[in-house]
Amino acid sequence: MTASCQEFEVTVHTSPGPTCGTFNGLWLSLIGSQGETPPISVTAGHHLLPGSVSFKIGPLGQLILVRLRLEAQAGFPDVNWHCSRVEVRRPAGGSGPQVFLCDRWLRPADGDVELCSGQLCLMADEREEKLKLHRLKQLQHQQQLIRWRLFVSGAPQCADLSSMLQLGPNLINPPTLSPVRNPAEAHWKEDWFFGYQCLNGCNPLLIRQIRLLPPNLAVTSDMLRPFLPKRSSLEDELKKGTIYLLDYEILDGLPANLINGKQAYLSAPLCLLHLNQQEQLVPIAIQLQHTPGPQNPVFMPSDPGSDWLLAKIWVHCMDFQCHQLISHYLRTHMMAELCCVATLRHLPDQHPLHQLLMPHVRTSLQINLQARASLLAANGVFDQVKPHLEPQHKLLPAPHSACRFSLVLVWFWFPQAVGSGLMTVPSLLSRASARLCYRSLCVPDDLSDRGVDKLPHSFYAQDARRVWDALHR
Ligand SMILES: [Fe+2]
Repeated sequence: MTASCQEFEVTVHTSPGPTCGTFNGLWLSLIGSQGETPPISVTAGHHLLPGSVSFKIGPLGQLILVRLRLEAQAGFPDVNWHCSRVEVRRPAGGSGPQVFLCDRWLRPADGDVELCSGQLCLMADEREEKLKLHRLKQLQHQQQLIRWRLFVSGAPQCADLSSMLQLGPNLINPPTLSPVRNPAEAHWKEDWFFGYQCLNGCNPLLIRQIRLLPPNLAVTSDMLRPFLPKRSSLEDELKKGTIYLLDYEILDGLPANLINGKQAYLSAPLCLLHLNQQEQLVPIAIQLQHTPGPQNPVFMPSDPGSDWLLAKIWVHCMDFQCHQLISHYLRTHMMAELCCVATLRHLPDQHPLHQLLMPHVRTSLQINLQARASLLAANGVFDQVKPHLEPQHKLLPAPHSACRFSLVLVWFWFPQAVGSGLMTVPSLLSRASARLCYRSLCVPDDLSDRGVDKLPHSFYAQDARRVWDALHR
């Protein structure tokens, strides 16, 4: 459509997806250095469908902002609109259009939404007073919407949200489904696959090379000799760097869960592994409790098959607690939420870091809110699990497949294996937060500190390093 005047020609672009259009009315104002237009109806007699609509308006000086406002239309459903951008052209100027990027959902409840154009910059480098004011208004608005809340004392804070509705359409993803495959089915009892999983399974962040045995692991060189190469010794292998350790000391002494009224148990295993001459990492000793003693035997591959298998299952079971709550929830979700909330509260849209960070943290609040509301809440997966309840994945349309895989795994395969209950979670998160250091979040440092960067079958390490290097190009 075309409006009366000569200086600007405005084109509003709706994103191309089949659900991006709306029946709502759109009002648009241009804000320039010499004034602003009153709201102009873009949609009089039209609906916003994928594509574009154009009109012309009068002189304003240098154009600074575009203000949009959606209005519900009587008799039509109130459907969100995904705006791609607004382009403003000066027909007399001869240059290309000034582009005001939007790339987000808008709805009547948002009220006025202002779009900027031009270079991203820091507040200190902003010269235009109206844009400085716009940035401050946006941050005030965001800080009212997104507030900090203490989730667990001693652990990173989270967003103070109680409902998905508070997130709005731009911070959530529609659910998608992907098939779950279980490559462990064929080999889960074999020692080489146990080591393979420590390097490349759900939780490749714990295993580390050691040069000295931990003093509380009650093994001797003689005990381990049958599992090492001929004419070698534990001391030789430690020197060569072929001895690795899984240490679950962080679980020591934590209260365990009650599952359907029955006491569950946690232990704090130590598991020694050896990189053998076939370049397989295999377990050679498992002590299930942290403090050595007569009630705390060391299990070895020479023990009866079921004993050794059960010892390995206990290690994996404790690894599951550390994986879900520390490697996954704390190091991934809670840390991402810190970045997301701080970004929303302190970096306006036109800040360069906002643009770089938001694609990575956009859906963090959604999944974390769901996790706190159901997974980590009373009667959730980490509480008194009841296998006859509805499958949890129906309640949790997780936005990325790793999360959903974990949740489905918890619900269908380990419905009674969550030894960490709601008594455990705060203590474990608090302990793990106190031990979390920046260096451990830097992939090359973490891999080399743990001595897994040069292992031949350490595919997690190789892939993580490639991703890290790509980000630093
Ligand atoms: Fe996740």
